[in-house]
Amino acid sequence: MNAVHIGVINVSDRAAAGVYDDVPGKAVVETLREYLTTEFEPVYRVIPDEQPELEAAMIEMADVHGCCLIVTTGGTGPAPRDVTPEATEAVCQKMMPGIGELMRTTSLQYVPTAILSRQTAGIRGSTLILNLPGRPKAIRECLDAVFPAVPYCIDLIEGPRLETDESVIKAFRPRSA
Ligand code: MTE
Repeated sequence: MNAVHIGVINVSDRAAAGVYDDVPGKAVVETLREYLTTEFEPVYRVIPDEQPELEAAMIEMADVHGCCLIVTTGGTGPAPRDVTPEATEAVCQKMMPGIGELMRTTSLQYVPTAILSRQTAGIRGSTLILNLPGRPKAIRECLDAVFPAVPYCIDLIEGPRLETDESVIKAFRPRSA
C-alpha cells in the first residue's frame, strides 16, 4: 500500500524568516503522532503569510504528494497579513464550515479571543485541509475537538483509512463504515 502522507504548514512570516523557532509546526506533527496508529510521513513546510505561496504549497501537498490531510497553523486572524483562510478557500472545491465552527466554540472555553480566528476547513479532491490558529496551545485545544470526525471525513473523500490510538483520541465512524 502507498505510504500515507500528511501535510503540515506553519504559516508565519517570522518563523519563515528564522526569527522564531517553528514551535507550532512541530507541535502539530507531535500531536498527530500521538493520535494516529496508522503510519504516516509528514510533508512539512514553513511559509510566510503570502497567499500565492500558501496556495502553491497546499496544491503541491494535495496533488503531487497525495496528502490525505493538510493541517495549517497560523494566519487565521484579522491582521492585514493573515490570509490562511483565503488561501484555503481558493484551493478547495468545497468548504466544511462545521469544522471551523466547532474549533471556535471549543476555543471559547479557553480564550475570549477565540472568535478572532477565521479558521476553516475544506476539501480539495481527496484531501481535507484544516486551519489551526498559530498559538502552540491552540493546536491541541482545537484538534482534540474536531479530530474524532476527521478519519471518517477522509473515508468519505476516498482517502486512506486512518486508525487512532483510542486511549488518546477515539475516531467516530457510523456503524456502517
Ligand atoms: N484558539 C485557541 N484554542 N487558543 C488560543 O489561544 N488564540 C486566538 C484565536 N484562537 C487562540 C485561539 C487569537 S488571540 C487569535 S488573534 C486568533 O486565534 C488568530 O490566530 P492566528 O492569526 O495565529 O491564526
